[in-house]
Amino acid sequence: MEVIIVKSSDEVADLASRRIKNLVEKKPKAILGLATGNTPLTLYAQLIEYHRQSLVNFSQITTFNLDEYVGLDPQHRASYCHFMKENLFGPLGLDPGQCFIPNGMANDIAAECEAYEKKIHQKGPLDLQLLGIGREGHIGFNEPGSSLGSRTRLKTLTETTRQDNASQFGSPQDVPLHVITMGVQTIMEASEILLMATGLGKAQAVASMVEGPLSASVPASVLQFHPKTRVIVDDEAASKLSRKAYYREVYAKKPPWQSADFV
Ligand code: PGA
Repeated sequence: MEVIIVKSSDEVADLASRRIKNLVEKKPKAILGLATGNTPLTLYAQLIEYHRQSLVNFSQITTFNLDEYVGLDPQHRASYCHFMKENLFGPLGLDPGQCFIPNGMANDIAAECEAYEKKIHQKGPLDLQLLGIGREGHIGFNEPGSSLGSRTRLKTLTETTRQDNASQFGSPQDVPLHVITMGVQTIMEASEILLMATGLGKAQAVASMVEGPLSASVPASVLQFHPKTRVIVDDEAASKLSRKAYYREVYAKKPPWQSADFV
């Protein structure tokens, strides 16, 4: 795991956006796994800016989102379908046929999960999966206790997650209880992982993920097994890491050929 510590959330977004730009420049038909939430918003704004300035052509990418609420109308402002259209797909001019999100309104949720997983396998592997992290260490909506071998399926949100996601709904009770999420194993099959975390609220989860024992109680800790994972954090989210000085030194003294990914 490579841990990159920068000063601010803007720098986290900047670095992540440069990695994605670099990837799509090299591979215009890249398959990207995308995330929702507050953390990637500035990154998406940056990608839109690259598009506006014609610095990179995103028209041939394919995207797969991590998760979606079950039973929530895709037009609802809190649905991830709506979030992605507003914050990325629309401004980039991407066609719905190239952007996949689990259908939380499907009559048969189990069949939808299986079909989503199959679609990823057909088109994939994902060249890069973008991730945030929950306060309790979830990735996607793989809540604590999720099988580390899990695939796309229905999950039940924890109280903490429903509180964290309540702002779009009014109250935690209004947040749907059920979601469809890519599984931990599905995420692990991406060729590269880019996890972003900002703010003090994420500090404990980041420390447990990077330096804690591997455990289904902190699903993000499974990324310790992933051969190409980058964790980009700001100072606050890094504040509980015990090997901070070492991570900084590794990054600062990186041989030039290893920095090429961010050009
Ligand atoms: P956030 O969510 O970006 O809104 O903090 C991250 C997550 O739950 O994975």
